[in-house]
Amino acid sequence: MDSENQCTLVNGLFWGDEGKAKAIDVLDEGVNIVARYQGGANAGHTIYIDGEKFVFHQVPSGLLRENTIGAMGAGMVLDLPQLVDEINDINNRGFDTSGRIMVSPRAHVTTILHKQIEKIYEKSLGIGTTLKGIGPTYADKYSRSGLRLGDLMDYKNLKERVGQLIEFHKPLFVYNDAQLPTIAQIIDPLLESFSTVKDWVGDVSAIITDSMKLGKKVLIEGAQGAMLDIDWGTYPYVTSSSTCFSGVAHGLGIDPRLVDNVVGLAKAFTTRVGHGPFPTEIEGEMSERLRGTGENEWDEFGATTGRPRRCGWLDGFVLSMNCKRWGVNKLFLTKMDILDGMEKINICSAYKINGKILRVYPSTLEELEKVEPVYEELSGWENSRSAKTFDDLPENARYYIKRVEQLAGCPIGWVSTGPNRSETIIR
Ligand code: GDP
Ligand code: IMO
Ligand code: MG
Repeated sequence: MDSENQCTLVNGLFWGDEGKAKAIDVLDEGVNIVARYQGGANAGHTIYIDGEKFVFHQVPSGLLRENTIGAMGAGMVLDLPQLVDEINDINNRGFDTSGRIMVSPRAHVTTILHKQIEKIYEKSLGIGTTLKGIGPTYADKYSRSGLRLGDLMDYKNLKERVGQLIEFHKPLFVYNDAQLPTIAQIIDPLLESFSTVKDWVGDVSAIITDSMKLGKKVLIEGAQGAMLDIDWGTYPYVTSSSTCFSGVAHGLGIDPRLVDNVVGLAKAFTTRVGHGPFPTEIEGEMSERLRGTGENEWDEFGATTGRPRRCGWLDGFVLSMNCKRWGVNKLFLTKMDILDGMEKINICSAYKINGKILRVYPSTLEELEKVEPVYEELSGWENSRSAKTFDDLPENARYYIKRVEQLAGCPIGWVSTGPNRSETIIR
């Protein structure tokens, strides 16, 4: 985190998996609170500590820093049994999280009912979701029939509300000839995990606001990415939350003006997992080259679902739009090393439809289907991985970085050349 900033947001600018957790791991030194404001177990955030791999889904990844509080805000949807497993795993691996976890009682709770609803929806919608029940949980939240963490404190009320929820969704199950879960099947795992989670319930909004008044530092960990935002992404092939800066104040219950720094995450190429528009997607040998075989831990296979990620060239149109729209102060460019050894590298500098350059990013699937990316071909380089400073980088790698900055209209503050914390060039 830049020393002059008190509250930094780390946000993905593409379709997720940009390396946000790696950036958090670089930026969270000396930070007092790391907070998640949206999403849930759909996220998969990977970091390496002393060569050991950790994948976080709901817990903010800054929790591995001693004395840092990991806060989960009201805008999240939580899978409680999985949350308990995640924390247990961290504790079992030698980290002491006691007194350092806080969850908002306003966060909504995902149940097995939501996961089953999602399976039914996926048959016709075909979004390619993570099947973690995210969409149906947010849908119940907005239809005001959802369950919040705080509801688990009162068994009678909970049972009544779960009964209502089952009735509410019954027609879908009957129509699809699917088995509805019983009240006990829904409630039992919730209550079992709540016996642990209840000790973590606290006022996330107040702890951030009050701590900042005392001069403490906060890092906000976005999940997914701007192109998966429910309003600003490639709808309907998106997730169901507000994944951008605009979601932060709402999801945490804080004054938006507290955030004084926005770090945007971009990979040196683009990936997407799940279905939906991806104008710079490439197929064949080059795509496989970017994805990797799965042999390396960092190859492009989903950290939550294990699915192979779709790969393509860096999309400069998406990048410039999101830097501008979300007020990105600096970019964190990851996976530069993956381009090592490539003879030619493309960057998309614009989109065309019927030969005409677009000024505005398309808002419909129909337009996105017609898009032809305009590419610039740049020369490759041999080895960025061993570089320790910007000047150590091969000339063509430096040129690539500068061209990305020009297209983005935003400076690159960090270049990542490997998954470990030390493999980061600070500019
Ligand atoms: P997130 O969801 O944005 O946090 O990203 P993921 O953890 O899902 O995926 C990023 C993957 O790339 C992880 O396996 C990281 O360890 C890895 N990674 C991050 N930065 C770099 C880098 O600069 N080089 C390489 N080779 N791997 C990286
Ligand atoms: P992180 O935080 C990449 C994608 C899914 C699917 C769509 C909707 O690791 O970057 P959902 O289960 O959210 O309803 O799925 O969004 N998706 C992600 N893709 N990284 C993620 O998280 C994602 N979370 C959801 O693949 O296309
Ligand atoms: Mg991920």
